[in-house]
Amino acid sequence: MRIVKRAGAAHLKVMKKQPNPANELIPKSPTLERLQAAARNCKACDLWKNATQTVFGEGKATAKIMLIGEVPGNREDIEGKPFVGPAGKLLDAALAEAGIDPTEVYVTNAVKHFKWEPRGKRRIHQKPNAAEIAACRPWLDAEIAVVRPRIIVCLGATAAQALLGRDFRVTQHRGEFLKSSLSPVVMATVHPSSILRVPDEKMKEDEMGRFIADLKRIPKSF
Ligand code: URA
Ligand code: SF4
Repeated sequence: MRIVKRAGAAHLKVMKKQPNPANELIPKSPTLERLQAAARNCKACDLWKNATQTVFGEGKATAKIMLIGEVPGNREDIEGKPFVGPAGKLLDAALAEAGIDPTEVYVTNAVKHFKWEPRGKRRIHQKPNAAEIAACRPWLDAEIAVVRPRIIVCLGATAAQALLGRDFRVTQHRGEFLKSSLSPVVMATVHPSSILRVPDEKMKEDEMGRFIADLKRIPKSF
C-alpha cells in the first residue's frame, strides 16, 4: 500500500511517558485478558466514579485492523462492550458494506469509561477532555502493543488528535494513509455518531457513502 502523508511529529509530545497511575496497573506480561481485568480497577481519572464499568476494547489479539473511537456511550456503559449502541450498529453496517471481515477488527476507545451529564432522565454523552485522554492512554498503548495492528483507523477527531497530534484535522486528511510509530499505517475518518446526527436523510446517505469509501481503503490482505 502507498503511504501518502507523513503525520506531524506533534504526536511524539503526547507519547512521552508521563507519571500516570494507569501505568502502575499494566501487567508485566500483558495479554488482552490480563489488560481487561486490570482495567476494571482503574481510577486514574475521575470518570470511573459515574460510570457502571470499564469498557475495554474487544477483538482478537491477532486482528490486523484496530478501530479507535472516543468514549463509550450509554449502551456501552451498560453492556460493558465498545460500539454496541446506535453508533456501533452504524459502524457494523459500514464495515459490512466495505467488505471487512469483523473478526479481523479490534475495536476500542481512547477513553474507557462513559462520560455523561444528566438531562432529565437521560444520560447525555460528553467529550472527554485532554487530561482524561492522557490518563487513559496507557490502556490504549498497551492494547496497540499486544495487538500490533497493521492499520489503525481513528474514528473522529478525539482519537485522531490523541494519536496524530492536536493540530491534526480529520476534515483535511480523512482517508489518507499516514505514517506513524504506532502501526505501519494510521488512517483517520469521521466518527459514526457524526453520521447519525446528520438531520437531512439525503446528506446522511452521502456521509455514510463517504464513510464506507474510507473503510474500503483498508487493505483486504496484509
Ligand atoms: N462512541 C464511541 O466513541 N465509542 C463507543 O464505544 C460507542 C460510541
Ligand atoms: Fe482509568 Fe480510563 Fe477509566 Fe479514567 S477513563 S478511570 S483512565 S480506565
